[in-house]
Amino acid sequence: MQTAIVGYGYVGKGMRKIFPGAFVYDPKINCNAKNMQKKAAKEAVNACDLAIICVPTPPIGMNEQKINVDCNTFLRADTSVVEEVISWLKTPLILVKSTIPPGTTDRLKQKYGKRICFSPEYMGEGGYYTPPQYPSPTDPMRHGWMIIGGDPKDCDDMYDIFIQRMGPAKVYFKCSAIEAELIKHMENTWIAMKVTFANEWKNICDSFGASYNTVREGWLLDPRVERMHTAVFRNKPGFGGKCLPKDLHSIITASGKQGYEADMLKSIWQANQKFRGADDPGTVLCPKCFPHDKTIVTCPEEEANNGYAYCEIHGKVSW
Ligand SMILES: NC(=O)c1ccc[n+]([C@@H]2O[C@H](COP(=O)([O-])OP(=O)(O)OC[C@H]3O[C@@H](n4cnc5c(N)ncnc54)[C@H](O)[C@@H]3O)[C@@H](O)[C@H]2O)c1
Repeated sequence: MQTAIVGYGYVGKGMRKIFPGAFVYDPKINCNAKNMQKKAAKEAVNACDLAIICVPTPPIGMNEQKINVDCNTFLRADTSVVEEVISWLKTPLILVKSTIPPGTTDRLKQKYGKRICFSPEYMGEGGYYTPPQYPSPTDPMRHGWMIIGGDPKDCDDMYDIFIQRMGPAKVYFKCSAIEAELIKHMENTWIAMKVTFANEWKNICDSFGASYNTVREGWLLDPRVERMHTAVFRNKPGFGGKCLPKDLHSIITASGKQGYEADMLKSIWQANQKFRGADDPGTVLCPKCFPHDKTIVTCPEEEANNGYAYCEIHGKVSW
């Protein structure tokens, strides 16, 4: 059983913890790096039994490095890299770990006639300590469950591959591809909602001159309230990073195309923009810090027009 990982970034590296001997295909990495066992060409990937796709799906129409779009503008995820990879893959089974809008797996299965499943990924880039009862941010091998979406026979074959590596003690949940894609977006918008709720309450507490931290700890004494994602970080309000804004936008746009306006989800984004100061046209995120969501930089309007901003860490940066 030989596996290939296509796209060796954050998620791809996590997948290699499940399949340490996997071929890796990523045009941007140095395949001679110490931790790479084998240099993989497309032919080597296509000789494998399974390919796991972990390539980016950034928002279309939004510069990935600039999040201050108009509050009423919602963008869709760019699935073109996933599609390009699927177009050349010839492995008997393909698993998409990249987050893709509902309906994408079925569309690509139909277009390319290949056996494709989608599985939501639960790693994350929060940057803080995560206790073991929560999904490990870096190691999917330590996650307690796996969701596999696709045709029942494809899911079953995928199940047989993963259970041999991840073990029988995990829960394996099989469903349709569209259900699995929805589960992933429901998860990330849930997290975004929790962060937004916490930030709203921080502002309410501030308006009364009360400590949010004390109010939060008191609130959390009720066992019905979940602790995760309820902290409000000083100088880093709201949510950001590579996934939550992108996936929130993506599901709002996808639902809109289905004829449903997800107004409640839109209000999460609008509130977040307020918390982040993104309604202020002079505020952008530093493109060099952005993937790790570290620094908000000030950008004078005349410079914004020229595409420059000033970051405390990186100085003058373009975006
Ligand atoms: N980072 C997370 O915590 C996380 C969690 C869950 C889901 N996801 C999803 O997983 C996907 C990947 O995210 P990531 O954070 O690993 O991204 P990343 O930017 O860290 O890694 C993506 C990798 O894909 C490579 N790549 C780009 N085009 C390629 C191509 N044509 N062929 C092969 N490789 C190519 C890039 O060089 C890069 O190394 C996204 O859809 C994201 O939404 C990410």
